[in-house]
Amino acid sequence: MSLIQTKKLTKIFKNGETSSVILNQIDLTVEAGEFVALTGSSGSGKTTLMHLLGCLDFPTSGDVFLAGQQVSALSTQQLAAVRNQQIGFVFQNFHLLNDLNAVENVVLPQLYGGISEKQARCQAHELLELVGLGHRLSHYPNQLSGGQKQRIAIARALAMNPLILLADEPTGNLDSENSQLVIDLFCTINQLKKTTIIIVTHEKAIAQRAQRCVTIKDGSIASDIYYEKLELGSHES
Ligand SMILES: Nc1ncnc2c1ncn2[C@@H]1O[C@H](COP(=O)(O)OP(=O)(O)OP(=O)(O)O)[C@@H](O)[C@H]1O
Ligand SMILES: [Mg+2]
Repeated sequence: MSLIQTKKLTKIFKNGETSSVILNQIDLTVEAGEFVALTGSSGSGKTTLMHLLGCLDFPTSGDVFLAGQQVSALSTQQLAAVRNQQIGFVFQNFHLLNDLNAVENVVLPQLYGGISEKQARCQAHELLELVGLGHRLSHYPNQLSGGQKQRIAIARALAMNPLILLADEPTGNLDSENSQLVIDLFCTINQLKKTTIIIVTHEKAIAQRAQRCVTIKDGSIASDIYYEKLELGSHES
């Protein structure tokens, strides 16, 4: 069973009289442990697809299956649980809560997930160490650089140990040095934690760090290239 599977996934946006078919019957399969780059020109539907995969939006028709479970069959409550426990999101603009410090930002989704505050804080410390911010635990977002903010956002996305990490242009607001740090981190997470990662990027050099590159054009998958054959389950931790 594939971790992510879409079947004839279609999204049509209506604007008054006109409607635009943004995703047109997309069949995409991603196996557990894969690291996929998603590319395509601006407006091609990358964010739309990420929102559908991440259960943040509903398709016009077609289905998303996560670990064999049909997303459209889930109740609102079940969907919230899937978003909290199975999916981590990283956005271009970080989306951190500015009145919470680094640790608190990483603690919050864990409290929603029913984890005790003590355990959540302990895990937050570990994750912030992992992303290289062990020395910035009580800093607030406005006291941190863009690259540091993004690394907190990555730690937060990992807080519930998700199966899937969805990152929409996570390096879009970063300089090349910080972009490098962030993409290195995704590679580490993919190898260390076996997290399945889908990353939207416009940068070829970033896409080439993934194992596979899917390109969307005119509502369809225009190309799907494997850079590196994945040896599932054969990695050493
Ligand atoms: N809520 C909405 N209502 C109407 N149209 C929308 C809506 N969201 C997105 N669109 C349209 O869908 C198309 C795809 O948008 P999307 O944000 O998925 O593109 P993208 O590939 O992520 O682009 P970018 O690289 O610029 O981020 C665009 O033409 C956009 O205008
Ligand atoms: Mg986008």
